[in-house]
Amino acid sequence: MEAIFSKIQEVQSTAELEEIRILVMGKKGSLTARFAELKCCDAESKKMLAKELNALKLRFEKALADRKEVLSLKELEEKLNAEKIDVSLFSPSNLKGAHHPVMLMLDRIVKYFVEMNFSLNVGPLVEDDFHNFEALNLPKYHPARDMQDTFYFKDGKLLRTHTSPVQVRTMESQQPPIRMICPGSVFRCDYDLTHTPMFHQVEGLVVEQGKDSVSFAHLKFILEDFLRFMFGNVKVRFRSSFFPFTEPSAEVDMSCIFCKGSGCRVCSHTGWLEVLGCGMVDDNVFKAVGYENVSGYAFGLGVERFAMLAYGVPDLRAFFESDLRILEQFK
Ligand code: DAH
Repeated sequence: MEAIFSKIQEVQSTAELEEIRILVMGKKGSLTARFAELKCCDAESKKMLAKELNALKLRFEKALADRKEVLSLKELEEKLNAEKIDVSLFSPSNLKGAHHPVMLMLDRIVKYFVEMNFSLNVGPLVEDDFHNFEALNLPKYHPARDMQDTFYFKDGKLLRTHTSPVQVRTMESQQPPIRMICPGSVFRCDYDLTHTPMFHQVEGLVVEQGKDSVSFAHLKFILEDFLRFMFGNVKVRFRSSFFPFTEPSAEVDMSCIFCKGSGCRVCSHTGWLEVLGCGMVDDNVFKAVGYENVSGYAFGLGVERFAMLAYGVPDLRAFFESDLRILEQFK
């Protein structure tokens, strides 16, 4: 039996330890066999033998348990060492995300106007007829409604076709002075090289108390300055135009950033790129929100159009197809 005790100290794994336990205490184990001897002797020697065997059994069990504790710890440590993850190992699937080009462009636009002290507003994507059209001087059956291919819901609500309804909501909830921009997605039933059913606009609105407080010159200054911040030293021109919500209205062109104004395919050989719509807020819009004796200007621009020009992307749909080969270029 003493040989077994010294063997317990020598074994190197819990599996070997279990083998020893079975050899000694298993059904056919050596100690189990000695317990069987208890049957065949008189009471006195039985008592002595039982005492001796029980002591032996206890000593054996304790030796096993002590050794097991040491070996289990050692085995756990070996296992942990073997399974350690090497975090510095190169992994090809460890791809980094990047900002979407449209959002990069939007961030830059927002940065300019925030630095110019404009506040940032938002409005709902599901609009009603009043805010999207009526209050913007686009009454029912007005032909200008045809310019905007609207998605309607069955209850008469619609997906906003532009960010201009946020002008109306801002004026309904606030008194002048107002100096805000509103970036957001807008929706139109249209799909080709230069149109997608969802795109982004930034709307701007400035209103002050007093009929002559805000002039077209203020509008001209801010838009020229803005376009030079975005595109560098471009020429800017204001072309007379029509929007129902502004009077007078203008479209803003800048000299083509690709050919520097000499004429190329992107600018249809005109030397100019149309980039913005703007004007002085129409009195009918002020009336719709209950404003009196005020003046103001408004403008609207398409973020995707800016991104196409700034990044030289020829097909608008590229922004919405999630092609990693394109998106990865903006890291
Ligand atoms: N809402 C116009 C559109 O979606 C853009 C626009 C033009 C907004 C002129 C304005 C503006 O505020 O003054 O085409």
